[in-house]
Amino acid sequence: MFKNLALALTAVIALTSCTKKPSTDGTATSSNANEILVGEYGSMTGSEATFGISTHEGIQLAFKQINNTGGINGKLLKLISLDNQGKPEEAATAVQKLITQNKVVAVLGEVASSRSLAAAPIAQQYKIPMVSPSSTNPKVTEVGDYIFRVCFIDPFQGTVMAKFAAENLKAKKVAIMTDVKSDYSVGLAKFFKEKFEDLGGKVVSEQSYASQDIDFKAQLTAIKAAKPDAIFIPGYYTEVGLISRQAKGLGIKAALLGGDGWDSSKLFEIGKEAIVGGYFSNHYTTESKDKKVQEFISAYKDAYNKVPDGLAAMGYDAAMVLVDAMKRAKEPTPEAIRDQLATTKDFIAVTGKITIDEKRNATKPAVVVQVKGQDKYGYVTTINP
Ligand code: PHE
Repeated sequence: MFKNLALALTAVIALTSCTKKPSTDGTATSSNANEILVGEYGSMTGSEATFGISTHEGIQLAFKQINNTGGINGKLLKLISLDNQGKPEEAATAVQKLITQNKVVAVLGEVASSRSLAAAPIAQQYKIPMVSPSSTNPKVTEVGDYIFRVCFIDPFQGTVMAKFAAENLKAKKVAIMTDVKSDYSVGLAKFFKEKFEDLGGKVVSEQSYASQDIDFKAQLTAIKAAKPDAIFIPGYYTEVGLISRQAKGLGIKAALLGGDGWDSSKLFEIGKEAIVGGYFSNHYTTESKDKKVQEFISAYKDAYNKVPDGLAAMGYDAAMVLVDAMKRAKEPTPEAIRDQLATTKDFIAVTGKITIDEKRNATKPAVVVQVKGQDKYGYVTTINP
């Protein structure tokens, strides 16, 4: 134990006394023997910027905590982050660069399933382990044996919201509004529909839109005519915020429901009162009494002066699961890290216990929350797999 401590201290001193400080701001390009380079790609700008920023902050916090306690077997973590502007092509380019130019041993990302799907084949091709914090579409980890995630998947998330609509809200008729440009939205809409119909409910209107659209009145007018009890909108916050306002403008009273893609402090900023009362499924709730959750919230508040959303928690957990695999690996090589990631079992994370199954997914409970106001989400229920 003392030997390890001594080693860790030497590493810290070696780094602090050298002029090249470990950088976490994405500018690092070279490594040294005392560092482990990890790549991150995310939407730091664009209409899903809060996804990338929150995830990045969660990862950064995790790496800081690990480095402050000596790093991994004497080596410090260095994070290289690239912005993909919310575009799948840029996500692929970023991962190619992280692997071939920066020579990272592992990649963290992405949030949005379409971007994880664009980049995963590259990580797989170069045999560099990739851990998605929060991409929930099933296809993501099907890309290959180097692709992992630490979140639940959409067949489960769709089931959660279908059951919630049918059993808690007693909805009989729902409308669905799908973003056809998003693999996440298309998948979640399908899984929700299957389950809701299984439960005896009826889908009375199916409408579609494309990310970046701003006018949804034609679809909402059709939905209004079908008189649903609820509208399921498995989209991302920018469009969902606009849809909620236009729905209200048209006098639609149906309950609005969605998935994790609603999770952003921008949701209320865009949707205002129109989104209040809406329900969505998510990966964690800040209302949890769990010690691990409360410790995370207070460390995050200390670092960033705000309450962490689900993305931040998932970023933190993805980083910590990766760290755990690196600690168990004899050497931090991509292959050894991959093998240890695959055997992750009962890892105590902020968003619940993580066990990686044979398909490289995690099975975890989901929470349903209700939008109450700016950054205010009332906890409604937890649904176990
Ligand atoms: N699950 C979404 C997807 O796969 C991404 C997301 C996760 C968005 C968590 C917000 C919160 O595309």
